[in-house]
Amino acid sequence: MSAIKSIFLRSSICIALLLFILTRAFVMAQTVQISINAHQPGQKIDRNLFGQFAEHLGYGIYGGIWVGPDSPIPNTRGIRKDVVAALKAIHVPNVRWPGGCFADEYHWRNGIGPTREVTLNPNWGGVIEPNSFGAHEFMDFIDQIGSEAYVSVNLGSDTVKEAADWLEYMTAGQETTLQKERSANGHPAPYKIALLGLGNESWDCGGNMTPEYYLDRMKIFTHFVRNYNPAQQDKDQMQKIAVGPGGGEQRWTDWTETVMKAYGQHTWSWDISGLSMHNYTVVKWPPDFKSVGFGEDEYAQILKKTLEMDDLIKRHSAIMDKYDPEKKVALIVDEWGAWYAPLPGTHQGFLVQQNSLRDAVLAALNLNIFARHADRVRGANIAQMINVLQAMILTEKEKMVLTPTYYVFKMYLPFQDSTFVPVTFNAGTYKHGDFTLPGVDAMAARGKDGRLWVEITNIDPNQPADVELKIPGVNAKSASGETLSAPKVDSINSFDAPNAVVPKPISSTAQGGKLSLKLEPKSVTVVSVEQ
Ligand code: AHR
Repeated sequence: MSAIKSIFLRSSICIALLLFILTRAFVMAQTVQISINAHQPGQKIDRNLFGQFAEHLGYGIYGGIWVGPDSPIPNTRGIRKDVVAALKAIHVPNVRWPGGCFADEYHWRNGIGPTREVTLNPNWGGVIEPNSFGAHEFMDFIDQIGSEAYVSVNLGSDTVKEAADWLEYMTAGQETTLQKERSANGHPAPYKIALLGLGNESWDCGGNMTPEYYLDRMKIFTHFVRNYNPAQQDKDQMQKIAVGPGGGEQRWTDWTETVMKAYGQHTWSWDISGLSMHNYTVVKWPPDFKSVGFGEDEYAQILKKTLEMDDLIKRHSAIMDKYDPEKKVALIVDEWGAWYAPLPGTHQGFLVQQNSLRDAVLAALNLNIFARHADRVRGANIAQMINVLQAMILTEKEKMVLTPTYYVFKMYLPFQDSTFVPVTFNAGTYKHGDFTLPGVDAMAARGKDGRLWVEITNIDPNQPADVELKIPGVNAKSASGETLSAPKVDSINSFDAPNAVVPKPISSTAQGGKLSLKLEPKSVTVVSVEQ
């Protein structure tokens, strides 16, 4: 009798629990109506918005990309095969190298030829820099992953001649002494340098310059540092990117004002195609938020902070508009991402952090902001590609794991070189303590494949979202794609559990031309519409 009673009691508890969960899910789902104006295409979403950044910093290059040809880790000419395969799959449009702060102390001659100079890396832990990964290895890596080179020259601590020689060495087609040296080092054909960075953070680690001093120096560099590649003379010309702001404070609005005002009056002898902007998601310096082992407070606070990217772009775009109304100069956000406290037990100068579901949501929010400003923002480089800050990939000796941020970049592939399509939606609100954020975010574009692609981020970590997609004038039959979520805001992929946060298939139901999707809390979803 008592056994029957206990079974009865247990089943009643189970049913009650199930009912509670179901009711909760039903009652608490937010309803989001998204209307897509598919017949009003906007700006191109440049594929360069999905660029990467690889600096000589910690294990970003050494260990992350370069293991050397004699390593037991499978490699092609010293470059990790697993990392190459993973990066190939996300069609990295360009990689910014060799820094960062490192770039303004980098001397390219140390990294070419059979014998390399062994130097130091004073910015990042003062460790030995073996220079085994130099210009040839970088270009080989670029080639292996099918990307393009964004090379930053040393404007801070060396001469214009050094940078001019480097470019001649890399790009000359005619038989100059430097071209012959390049051939002797294994590459007779000129390299393609798609983008050239004229210094890095010259207001800080790049030389503590005033905007006026930087401007004078930058003009000399843009004139003399030439690309000689015959294939880049008419089309495919190298884009020169000047140092721009690092935030919204007065000193940075002054910086943008100074450079852009000069650009407005520039003569034939100097030119730029882009102005860089750096903006990390960090609540205060030095960064002390944990990258794993945090809760909803830190989730809400970091995401609130990251949304400031929008205002920052607007602020600097407004200055650019004054002097460049035709938007010839692109704003290139070539360092962005979350910057947290270094993982305990790691070298403080190596900027090692974990990458969680929160970072996936953060990445989607930023990519959507860039897409909405794609008429001016035509490039962005997340910091950094491997083992540093908000990385795509983490490695430890022969092991490799793909982060939640990696999967967002993969899911966003259809947006590379797509055409922005306006969406309207009721974002609702997600409130947590003192923080109020939108409940959802959404973005849409017509892909190069002709399909209509929609991204929806459910920021709310507690409530699912019932999404209704309406596309006036389009007979939408269904929508399907992938969604990324996980049980906790700080869920991560580890070497032992690499598939904890991976995209899963999702599809809609359709009724009367309206598509319905049910999105999990704290999720990133990309679907294409079947017409
Ligand atoms: O990405 C790390 C560092 O952050 C870069 O070297 C520098 O440009 C920025 O301050």
